[in-house]
Amino acid sequence: RKPSAEEFKRQHMDPDSPPNSRPTYCNRMMRRQGMTKGSCKRVNTFVHESWATVKAICSQRQMTCKTTRRNNCHKSSSTLHITECRLKGSSKYPNCDYTTTDSQKHIIIACDGNPYVPVHFDASE
Ligand code: C5P
Repeated sequence: RKPSAEEFKRQHMDPDSPPNSRPTYCNRMMRRQGMTKGSCKRVNTFVHESWATVKAICSQRQMTCKTTRRNNCHKSSSTLHITECRLKGSSKYPNCDYTTTDSQKHIIIACDGNPYVPVHFDASE
């Protein structure tokens, strides 16, 4: 299945919650957003910015994607408020246990389609 903007929103967009998350944020959000079904997704980033802000990155600096090697990735010109969720080494499915880390970084996303919209989260730096 092709990655879609809807999938991107489900996995990576959380515009309404403030960036100063509780330590339990990732455990709650990873489950709520369907990333702990069948297995625990290892790494996932949530972005606390509006869809308009994230969509606008599709017209910012173009670069090669780290994961797919395609040339449709774009790096945000500004830093964004994000939360990084990382599976703890001690976590055992189905009890997916994550560390929650807030930060402010540039994000690199892949865009696709017409309209040209975010479909994949590549990295942050
Ligand atoms: O880098 P990796 O291949 O493990 O990335 C797999 C998926 O993990 C990405 O498609 C993305 O959904 C997520 N990811 C993320 N934030 C990162 C790295 C990966 O959300 N910093």
